[in-house]
Amino acid sequence: MSFNFACLITLVLLASSASAALIPRQDKSWTVALNDRPVRALVTQNSDGVFSFDCQANGKTVISASNIGFSTSNGDVGPEFSSCTAQDQSYTVESYNTIAGRSQSHYAPYQTQTFNCKTSNGQSSSVDVRVGIDGCAFRVGFPDGQYTINSESSTWTFAQNGASFLMDDPDNTSYEGEWEQSDAETGLQGSKNVLMPYLVDANSAVANQWVLLEESAMDGSFGGSQLAHKSGSLAYQFVFAEGGNVKVDGSIFSPWRIAVVADLTNLYRTTFDADNIPSTNISDVSWIKPGPVSWSWLPEPNSPSNETRQMEYVDLASELQWPYTLVDEGWNEKWVPDLVRYANNKSVDILLWYSANQWNSTDAVASNIANLKQWGVKGAKIDFFLSDVQAIHDQQTYILSQMAAAQLMVNFHGTPPPRGNQRTWPHLLTQEAIRGDEHPAYSFRNTVIPFTRNLVGSMDFTPALYTVAGVNGGSQEQQEQQSAQCSVGCGLGESIAFESAWQHIGEKPEVIRNYTLAARFYKGLPSVWQASTVLPNSYPGKAFAVGRYYQPSDRYYFGAVFNGDAQTFELQPTILPNDKKFILDIVSDGNDDDSDRTSIMRTIVTDVSSTSTVNVHVKSNGGFTAIACETAGSDGGCLATL
Ligand SMILES: *[C@@H]1O[C@H](CO)[C@@H](O)[C@H](O)[C@H]1NC(C)=O
Ligand SMILES: *[C@@H]1O[C@H](CO)[C@@H](O)[C@H](O)[C@H]1NC(C)=O
Ligand SMILES: *[C@@H]1O[C@H](CO)[C@@H](O)[C@H](O)[C@H]1NC(C)=O
Ligand SMILES: *[C@@H]1O[C@H](CO)[C@@H](O)[C@H](O)[C@H]1NC(C)=O
Ligand SMILES: *[C@@H]1O[C@H](CO)[C@@H](O)[C@H](O)[C@H]1NC(C)=O
Ligand SMILES: *[C@@H]1O[C@H](CO)[C@@H](O)[C@H](O)[C@H]1NC(C)=O
Repeated sequence: MSFNFACLITLVLLASSASAALIPRQDKSWTVALNDRPVRALVTQNSDGVFSFDCQANGKTVISASNIGFSTSNGDVGPEFSSCTAQDQSYTVESYNTIAGRSQSHYAPYQTQTFNCKTSNGQSSSVDVRVGIDGCAFRVGFPDGQYTINSESSTWTFAQNGASFLMDDPDNTSYEGEWEQSDAETGLQGSKNVLMPYLVDANSAVANQWVLLEESAMDGSFGGSQLAHKSGSLAYQFVFAEGGNVKVDGSIFSPWRIAVVADLTNLYRTTFDADNIPSTNISDVSWIKPGPVSWSWLPEPNSPSNETRQMEYVDLASELQWPYTLVDEGWNEKWVPDLVRYANNKSVDILLWYSANQWNSTDAVASNIANLKQWGVKGAKIDFFLSDVQAIHDQQTYILSQMAAAQLMVNFHGTPPPRGNQRTWPHLLTQEAIRGDEHPAYSFRNTVIPFTRNLVGSMDFTPALYTVAGVNGGSQEQQEQQSAQCSVGCGLGESIAFESAWQHIGEKPEVIRNYTLAARFYKGLPSVWQASTVLPNSYPGKAFAVGRYYQPSDRYYFGAVFNGDAQTFELQPTILPNDKKFILDIVSDGNDDDSDRTSIMRTIVTDVSSTSTVNVHVKSNGGFTAIACETAGSDGGCLATL
């Protein structure tokens, strides 16, 4: 007490005895927080004018942002800002609906502190720090004009080391690299850049907290970013993807640099990226239809050139009440209109694959759209953008705007992730940016991507039953390796565990019909949800189990995928309402020899409630799915009849 008092006296004496010019400029600080919420940002502008903040949960710092700023051909915009005025903080609520996603109705409050500042050469700019229920974010507003942004100094620094989950192939512009576990200090071997979304276990800083680093959607005004990291450091600095720069024309903001800070339950609920981009301008969304898609390319890559074979995939879609068949590379415009007539007669619509270089001019876009409309095709899968630079986001935004005007739906492949874009563009039903079923199965990846890639938008993983090994059917040996990493129970589980508003099931009609339980489960499968909850005993890299609600049929769906040994999983269906009892119809790995990777079985459990624990046997790298209904069908369960 007396010591502090003495210090205070000394400071006062120093201040009063120094002349005005010699008084050191003081750090200034602000707190940004939502009332009664555990997450807050403690913002500082130091005596050099540099902004930083600590993002805290329950009073302890989880991650910090520092050196917020950019270098441009028009002078530096930070990290040293001068003449800053802190505006009054603003409270805003983002309340909106989406078609795709883990849920469709969103309500997200945010508290924002804006600083209006001058850049190094006296132009107007701004810094925003925003805090939501589940994390902190910042962005910079750039001076109006025409110039180039060359680099960024902004840096995230974790408070403590912890396990991290990331893609091991940062040069991969299609975001199809493999996922691995590391830790925040090690990052990637060789000090390579890290791609977002980047998940870090922050438990050592604050109990049960995780951090997901991400950025908000790209509308063409900026390019995508990565994080430069040196082994041994907890600091991650923003760098523009592929050495790209940003061309400014007008008055723009950087994307939000987002640190989601949450426990696993709230992490799985986060929509921080979509919350912080513009709402859609599309007022009539009645033409936008999600649903499962039959798709032949995965099991038989040559089949898209065969109209008769495509008709057999249409027949499958029709039988299973799936709204679409996607015809991949190889289709011929001579027979597309005929296939559309055949499909429409069976209440199935056709989607067509294209390469992105067929959509690289305004004339090409207009001509493709005219064809799609004339043929009666409802949407396009556009592949091979293979870049995260600004020009690619500009091209994608242009395609999305033109497709929306023509009421045609979109699936981007060979591309960076959507980063919330499905809010602005609800006709963007899914996007690849994932090492999906075109690649060999990997049980570790299966249990990581629901907590990473799938949190920034629909993920076109294309879950099948793993009776084919990747493309071209594969050898017997490849097939065995494939199913060792994901049993048929796991393949079924993926169709619920992995969210995609267009869920492509890449499996032959004959194979699906042969798996009667799978066919019954797939029939009428939903692909969008009114609510989703990650279930107890889920953990990145080990297990992922989710419960989802589908209001149109008032049913609950469960999907689970596992990494590791055979086990008895305690399913706690916590998403069920408290006051009701359900029939739980489970389709899981056949309960016998672990080396039998392809058998599945059905178990019907009655009187299941939100507090029940239901034991489900899973094989090594196995999985299961289940449907909960209140009223049983004629055979006592919830599965559809064929
Ligand atoms: C990205 O990964 C895909 C799939 O593994 C591969 O075909 C492609 O060559 C990779 N691209 C780069 C730039 O490494
Ligand atoms: C939506 O409309 C507003 C107002 O006209 C416009 O400023 C904005 O650019 C539009 N957004 C998109 C994504 O087209
Ligand atoms: C096209 O598909 C049909 C139906 O499956 C099949 O009978 C025919 O042999 C296929 N044609 C070619 C050239 O593969
Ligand atoms: C439509 O389906 C009916 C049977 O359901 C069939 O008789 C008719 O030929 C089909 N029309 C076309 C154009 O395929
Ligand atoms: C579009 O792609 C085609 C085929 O790769 C190429 O020849 C053409 O130069 C591209 N056009 C533009 C405007 O990039
Ligand atoms: C269908 O299942 C039977 C019995 O397991 C098997 O012999 C047959 O090869 C399967 N057919 C296909 C097309 O998968």
